[in-house]
Amino acid sequence: MYSAPAKVILFGEHAVVYGQPAIAVPVSALRAVASTQPGSGLHIVAQDLGKTLPIDISKEVVDDSLALIVKLVLQTLKRPLPDLTITLASQIPMASGLGSGAAVAAALARALSGALGQPLDNNTLNSLIYEVEKTHHGTPSGIDNTVIVYEQPVYFVRGQPPERLIIRQPFTLVVADTGKSALTHVAVGDVRQLYDAQPARIQPVLDSIGALVKDARGALESGDTNALGPLMLRNHAYLKQLTVSSPELDTLVDAAMQAGALGAKLSGGGRGGNMIALVTPETQTRVEKALLRAGAVRAFSTLVS
Ligand code: PMV
Repeated sequence: MYSAPAKVILFGEHAVVYGQPAIAVPVSALRAVASTQPGSGLHIVAQDLGKTLPIDISKEVVDDSLALIVKLVLQTLKRPLPDLTITLASQIPMASGLGSGAAVAAALARALSGALGQPLDNNTLNSLIYEVEKTHHGTPSGIDNTVIVYEQPVYFVRGQPPERLIIRQPFTLVVADTGKSALTHVAVGDVRQLYDAQPARIQPVLDSIGALVKDARGALESGDTNALGPLMLRNHAYLKQLTVSSPELDTLVDAAMQAGALGAKLSGGGRGGNMIALVTPETQTRVEKALLRAGAVRAFSTLVS
């Protein structure tokens, strides 16, 4: 069995595309899993979709992301198409900001390279998954593939080696899904248009996000969990200014705060997908219930450590 986890972005999404820092953590309880059996030709069985996917890597430009990662792995390992059936299953909801695409690609690459007896090291895997991310949206910062491949909390600045973040005091997040899927590349493209049209208004928003991410890093490293809540709310307000929140996300953020969360914000590309709320053992159940009552289609808790 080969696998890769989901992820949530704690702070700094979107601004990270413009060179600001961001913080993301793995969600190890939610995983994409791949296993291999001998076969005839290469087949990928997508268990969740209930079908076997044809893999065609013969074209110069491969636009299907599963075929693309297969092609990249085989090119890297200098191997021909093997006789192998790879079965994929994922617990990670798609198009909801939890990194499902990157996790599925990482699990598949691990399974393929492992079955060939040449398991990829994480640095190589990370650069291959980044190539796949580019097909989802043109200008990924690289934060998703990094946190998913290394499965560690990261402080990430685009173009720089990721820094492992030490979380002094573990804390619990409730992750709640609006049920609205939203494409990251659309939100990223809209922010780009806004930035190009009004750089003097948008640059200070991005700078403010960067500054609060640095404060959040300090709070995480010193174990000052209480300081994180207000920073999450400020980050959410800035993301609203970037137009990437939605009525559903705002409703869930408000519901979490009314139920006693220390802070809450959208997480990931926005416009739909998931939000996160910082809770204590006393407020966790109340916040989860409140989020479901306020329209979340799913809510679960994850320990960040
Ligand atoms: O993949 P998502 O939806 O979690 O969003 C990725 C985070 C963005 O900052 C919006 C884009 C990026 O490339 O970093």
